[in-house]
Amino acid sequence: MNSRVTLSVFKADVGGYVGHGSVHPDMLQKARETLEQNGKDILIDFFVTHVGDDINIVLTHRQGVDAEPIHTLVWNTFLNCTEVAQKIKLYGAGQDLLSDAFSGNIKGMGPGIAEMEFEERPSEPIIIFMADKTEPGAWNFPLYKIFADPFNTIGLVIDPKMHSGFCFEVLDLIEDKRVTFSCPEELYDLLVFLGAPNRFVVKGVFTKAGEIAAISSTQKMNQLAGRYVGKDDPVMIVRCQNGLPAVGEVLEPFANPHLVTGWMRGSHYGPLIPVSQKDAVPTRFDGPPRVIALGFQLANGKLIGPQDLFADMAFDKARQKALEIADYIRQLGPFEPHRLPLDEMEYTTMPKVMEKLKDRFK
Ligand code: F6R
Ligand code: MG
Ligand code: MG
Repeated sequence: MNSRVTLSVFKADVGGYVGHGSVHPDMLQKARETLEQNGKDILIDFFVTHVGDDINIVLTHRQGVDAEPIHTLVWNTFLNCTEVAQKIKLYGAGQDLLSDAFSGNIKGMGPGIAEMEFEERPSEPIIIFMADKTEPGAWNFPLYKIFADPFNTIGLVIDPKMHSGFCFEVLDLIEDKRVTFSCPEELYDLLVFLGAPNRFVVKGVFTKAGEIAAISSTQKMNQLAGRYVGKDDPVMIVRCQNGLPAVGEVLEPFANPHLVTGWMRGSHYGPLIPVSQKDAVPTRFDGPPRVIALGFQLANGKLIGPQDLFADMAFDKARQKALEIADYIRQLGPFEPHRLPLDEMEYTTMPKVMEKLKDRFK
């Protein structure tokens, strides 16, 4: 049997309650039932939760990444949740399941996916980040801080096991190409790209020995289904401790909320608020964007947890600051830089308005 464990996180919005704010408890119940019944022969463990209107499914198993039985199980789980959503007329039922023709791999079918396979260490602490009302570029800033910034991660300076740095795999969302940067040597080159998170996003981070440390749900999204299909509320897995950043180093970037794209109609900048699971229900102006961090210890693939890491009152000030930023930026209403530039908005009336006024432009 494969001694390596695979940790897979999937997310999809298959129906909102109320509007785009949350997920109905019956849908979460249906997801758990389906995984319990249909997954018993292939899963080691599972955990189901939600952030905003997205259902998040965490699985452990020994099938490796991109495994057809796992992807099929999850697709069918989302289908069953969609049925529940349709029955009670929840909002946007099935919206993230882009095709009826599922062929064994969820990639490119709508849901977000982050998977990693590794040899479980004698103790394996992991953090799963899940966000709503934003997109995968939102992880660029924290991933840079966690794995490359000594002012965030003191381990880069004083832990001999981390002192050589990490490698960042970056995806160009437009050209669909990948490039890897070795840091700290190529830090300045890396930042040229990470600073443009709407186009270049971190797919994964590796140790210099090639061991996986972090993976995000980044995928080429804009062209899915041949059209822009919306902000892809992202997830990310980070392994911690013992030669990798400590849990506290991994959480630290979120103590100073950064601005991300998303929020109302996927067309605004707003602060990413770190929240506890109970506050993962974005309502003000359909937001502001928010992120939860659930910690688990793996024990032979079993998910021991979760620990709700942003519940810590030490993040209260970050929340307060984010709310002040939200108040400030909301004042701008439909003006940039609150509203996104024209080519990045999820909704626009520009072509129609232009057409109507075309004879009046002299
Ligand atoms: C943002 C989001 C919401 C919707 C908004 C309009 O990611 O999900 O802000 O964009 O509520 O939704 P519709 O067009 O479905 O009425
Ligand atoms: Mg929705
Ligand atoms: Mg969402």
